[in-house]
Amino acid sequence: MDAFRIEGGVRLKGTVSISGSKNAVLPMLCATLLAPGEYTLTNVPVLRDVTTLSSLLRTLGVHVVRDGSTLRIDSTRAVPNEAHYDLVRTMRASVYVLGPLLGRFGHARVSLPGGCAWGPRPIDLHLHAMEKLGARISLDHGVIVARGAPLRGNVIDFQISSVGATGNAVMAAVLAEGTTTIRNAAREPEIAALCEFLVAMGAGITGIGTHELAIDGVPSLSPVDAAVIPDRIEAGTYLVAGAITRGEIELRDIREDQMQSTVEALRATGAELESTEAGIRIRGTGEIRPVTVSTEPYPGFPTDMQAQLMSLLLLAHGDSTIHETIYSDRFKHVPELTRMGGRIRVEGGDAMIQGVPNLTGAPVMASDLRASAALVLAGLVAEGTTEVLRVYHIDRGYERIEEKLAGLGARIWRVRQS
Ligand code: EPU
Repeated sequence: MDAFRIEGGVRLKGTVSISGSKNAVLPMLCATLLAPGEYTLTNVPVLRDVTTLSSLLRTLGVHVVRDGSTLRIDSTRAVPNEAHYDLVRTMRASVYVLGPLLGRFGHARVSLPGGCAWGPRPIDLHLHAMEKLGARISLDHGVIVARGAPLRGNVIDFQISSVGATGNAVMAAVLAEGTTTIRNAAREPEIAALCEFLVAMGAGITGIGTHELAIDGVPSLSPVDAAVIPDRIEAGTYLVAGAITRGEIELRDIREDQMQSTVEALRATGAELESTEAGIRIRGTGEIRPVTVSTEPYPGFPTDMQAQLMSLLLLAHGDSTIHETIYSDRFKHVPELTRMGGRIRVEGGDAMIQGVPNLTGAPVMASDLRASAALVLAGLVAEGTTEVLRVYHIDRGYERIEEKLAGLGARIWRVRQS
């Protein structure tokens, strides 16, 4: 398992290009199951999660070929085979095949994902949505079995705003008979991008980007080509890299309008941010101010930026609080950051952070994607050497992170370990 060795203390400087969004491309790939034919997706990040999902799609008869940041997909021979546990368990987003398989073929078998590093992460809302559309759901030896042909439009009123359940419900509903209304739909840009992709394929969706989606079912859809939106979480992570090292970084290939809450939180810590022709520039100033931040569904501050922001707040002049309202136990990075000198107390979903003057390098263990990013960020500013073990987590969602950081002057190396 590879590790990163980081020698901290370099002020990062330069320009970094942001890759396509992981959480946008994953449902788009699954949506290709809805209409047989050839698709070309561009700006696709080279990430382990994309590779995993491509492997899963191949088991469903879909051809996926990568050429740099372009994926060519041919779903002409797609079949509703079972989505097996060995792939689903490594990536929960695999459950995104449920809606399209059910919508197109009238039945689907998808292994029930297990828990994840920071909690149970249920999929009850996904199943509830399929049932509302007329599917019968049962569990067969750990496999979700969904049947229902044809699906029929209905009102789906989500109790919790869920990115995945909204995406799955939309993909199931686009080919259903009649109209589906999704209330309390997730408004995340990745869901809006999925809806736009489906509309380009011929789907009838209105209310995109709002809490209420209306979907008029159509008999069939057609393949299209599309570009993946920039990754707002990767972008936010590089902004923190600029702030924490008191550096100056310009990000290109971003959608600043989709990153407002992150920009605001970083401004509140004292970082200077300005729009540029190519994207956005951050300048880390001397003093990091403490802040109180709550994670919220979009457009609020993203839970996927919580760990990275915490690394920055470790060095604030004063006490900060982070309320994690999406996943109350998403704090696996806390004990590792503590090993680097961070002072953090967790109570329920709240993390209280007492700023310290400096962090010290240490061997630390990555436990999930964003926790790993937080450890790398802390390592960039810590005194001495930090070794981040198990970086396969970071390879799931950050394209060539060590190369991009090294391009900004960071002293970071991948250490190959067997
Ligand atoms: N929830 C349920 N039941 C469900 C589904 C969700 O109770 O059936 C709850 C969750 O436990 C959570 C809340 O609803 O408390 C929101 O979860 P959501 O369904 O929105 O999360 P997700 O779709 O599983 C996506 C991203 C995550 C990101 C969350 C929240 C993808 C592939 N994953 O997950 O991204 O944290 O939305 O924004 O889009 C990451 O990229 O590191 C990552 C974990």
